[in-house]
Amino acid sequence: MCTSFTADSLPDLTGRVYLITGGNAGIGYETVYGLASKGATVYICARSESKATTAITFLREKLQNPNAPIHYLQMDNMNLSTVVAAANTFLSKESSLHGLILNAGIMCTPWEESTDGYESHWQTNYLSHYLLAYLLLPIIQATALNCEPGVVRIVELTSDAWHMAKGPGIWFDQISMANHEPFDRYCQSKLANLLHIRELQKKIGPRPGNAEKGEIWVAAVHPGLVETGLSANFATTSVLGRTLLGLGMGVSPDKGALGSLFAIASNDFKRDWSGSYMVPTAKKGWTWRWANDKDLQEKLWKWTEDQLRWKGFLSSSLRL
Ligand SMILES: NC(=O)c1ccc[n+]([C@@H]2O[C@H](COP(=O)([O-])OP(=O)(O)OC[C@H]3O[C@@H](n4cnc5c(N)ncnc54)[C@H](OP(=O)(O)O)[C@@H]3O)[C@@H](O)[C@H]2O)c1
Repeated sequence: MCTSFTADSLPDLTGRVYLITGGNAGIGYETVYGLASKGATVYICARSESKATTAITFLREKLQNPNAPIHYLQMDNMNLSTVVAAANTFLSKESSLHGLILNAGIMCTPWEESTDGYESHWQTNYLSHYLLAYLLLPIIQATALNCEPGVVRIVELTSDAWHMAKGPGIWFDQISMANHEPFDRYCQSKLANLLHIRELQKKIGPRPGNAEKGEIWVAAVHPGLVETGLSANFATTSVLGRTLLGLGMGVSPDKGALGSLFAIASNDFKRDWSGSYMVPTAKKGWTWRWANDKDLQEKLWKWTEDQLRWKGFLSSSLRL
């Protein structure tokens, strides 16, 4: 536990490269600021070029460094071909990746189907992130082989809403949950984020048998209730959201980013925390039921990999 963590206590990150989804707003924006203020190079995956470039301009002003190495990568989580393109563009520009932060998200938005035929919470919050991480794992592993253990990490934003997932947790036979409420779809996607990290821990985390691949630490982070565009939408669409935010329980985005910053780059995040569910601030959280269900996490991994191979987004030569 490290409740005294502040962004200032991060080590110097000069020479390290990070990539974050949804870094143009909210928690993601503040995460970029925290990393860039320590000298890191940061790539922001965003769907809107104008939002991303505006965010980069503000970040550089705040950093008082017009040349701060913060870059935009076009990626719309609702379009899987843009995920592949973003990964390829990144790989054409960089030869290392020290940290991947899977952060972009939506909550309680109206029913929408992606270009690829998936419901928007499922694809934005989970599926695109699974694909992006899969495509970048070779460079992440290559980076880890050249670094001290613990330098290279993957962090995925989940939510304590995972424990409010319904029924089987993951509805494999109706993954879009068309007959359910938007909040139920959000909870399923956030459970998937947590299960994804659990399976990554098994496949690439610091465990016996994984050492020769390079040591990669992973964590699923619940940022707390944070006052962002996402939570504002939660408040307008649900009594629970309105009540919690109305009681003043939300924190500012810079505080909301502390969990991500701690897990992705702090020296106080320990090796045996890899694979953990982290809660505010910088603490290991409790998990139960689906979150500890190894069969479910394996089934989800396989289901997702099969879908993405079948649709042609993962080549047969790339296998974890
Ligand atoms: N805020 C909370 O209380 C809270 C609580 C628990 C978990 N979380 C998690 O924290 C993460 C960050 O959320 P936030 O609160 O910072 O929300 P936010 O301020 O609304 O930011 C969300 C980010 O995701 C991006 N995004 C959404 N859909 C996208 C798409 N199709 N393609 C690319 N980017 C997309 C947004 O881009 P645009 O600007 O283009 O929309 C924005 O940059 C989410 O994963 C969320 O589930 C938040």
